[in-house]
Amino acid sequence: MRCWTATSRGSPRQALTLNPAAPTPSLPADGPPSSSSSSSSSSLVLVRITHVTLNPADLNTLRLLPPWLPFRRAPVPGMDFAGEVVALGGSRASTDADAAPPPPLRVGDRVCGAAGLREVFTGRGTLAEFVLLDRALVTPVPAGWGGREAAGTMGIAGQTATAMVKRVVPGGDLRSDRRGLEGRRVLVNGASGGVGTVLVQICKGLGAAEVVGVCSGANEGLVKGLGADEVVDYRLHDPLETHLVERFGEHQFDVIFDCAGSQGLYSCSPGYLKPEGRFVSIVGGWSQGVVPYIRNKLRPVFLGGTPRSYDLFLLSASGEIAREVATLVEQGVIKQAVIDSEFPMEQAVEAFEKLATGRARGKIVVNISNS
Ligand SMILES: NC(=O)c1ccc[n+]([C@@H]2O[C@H](COP(=O)([O-])OP(=O)(O)OC[C@H]3O[C@@H](n4cnc5c(N)ncnc54)[C@H](OP(=O)(O)O)[C@@H]3O)[C@@H](O)[C@H]2O)c1
Repeated sequence: MRCWTATSRGSPRQALTLNPAAPTPSLPADGPPSSSSSSSSSSLVLVRITHVTLNPADLNTLRLLPPWLPFRRAPVPGMDFAGEVVALGGSRASTDADAAPPPPLRVGDRVCGAAGLREVFTGRGTLAEFVLLDRALVTPVPAGWGGREAAGTMGIAGQTATAMVKRVVPGGDLRSDRRGLEGRRVLVNGASGGVGTVLVQICKGLGAAEVVGVCSGANEGLVKGLGADEVVDYRLHDPLETHLVERFGEHQFDVIFDCAGSQGLYSCSPGYLKPEGRFVSIVGGWSQGVVPYIRNKLRPVFLGGTPRSYDLFLLSASGEIAREVATLVEQGVIKQAVIDSEFPMEQAVEAFEKLATGRARGKIVVNISNS
């Protein structure tokens, strides 16, 4: 098969090589492949990939994880995927902590989702014509959705957006509680990116009284079209926090979702976030994630800490969350996938370079099958 491999650490152009003849993964011999029957018990799925969407974490993996580690031989990058089931079987134990058994799959089914942390660390990613995945990471493509839309929405971005909302909805069950955000006022920072474009739709679809998106003015129409009641242009209003205090000081938010990684947004939040309000960030790394996490979580208010709750979390991709996203699609809560641009498989480096600008509107697609 053809696949992209990381041959060194660094920028996409330095790190990535297109391998035209890599071995196609196959089901292990200890579990006979099931090529015609349906299966909900098989633990492995061989998927022929049609579309991959990229995430900032893919860039971080290229920059940070050396390919010479013994457990990362010829590592393939990529997490999000959509494709078709080629074979089912295998008996490798799943590590996914799925509560409910996944729905049955058949050869030929269209599936989507995201590879998990284990696949990322061992370099068994999705930027390839075939990938062998734990069954627990895979979910059927919602009816009426194409591969590029499914990869972009049921992949890391949509799973993260869904998991963020679950953290602030009592009980955390978005599928049965369709009014989980009813009456609440929500701010989404980074509303035009891969995560933000899904987040705005979920917040509005789950009954938020008001959704305010923060992005550059060029993306105002996009974010309003996804359901935001108001958009704040962070370039026009600099510093953003001063404007938020003036504009929302009297009508404070119940929830702030930070998809852009702003310490100032949290530090100044008492000016526009209710005392019992929730601040949820997903932006990791050392300077934007670890240091603020320690400072914001551990510093008491009397030593200058911010008197608002702070939550930073790292998604662990799973089929269970992917299925929750798919249900939100089927219920019409998530109405559209926002696609920034699409590149053929041969131009994956250019796709990564577009991602690295930090200016993507929604998801960047790599079309593996030219479909
Ligand atoms: N913790 C986790 O599990 C997890 C999961 C997924 C993602 N993440 C992280 O979350 C962040 C967002 O991910 P993503 O996939 O949405 O990224 P993305 O698609 O690359 O985000 C691009 C968007 O960010 C916006 N943006 C850039 N700077 C901004 C700023 N200062 N204020 C507001 N918006 C700004 C841009 O809008 P404009 O062009 O309009 O400025 C652009 O639309 C990344 O740092 C990613 O690593 C974490």
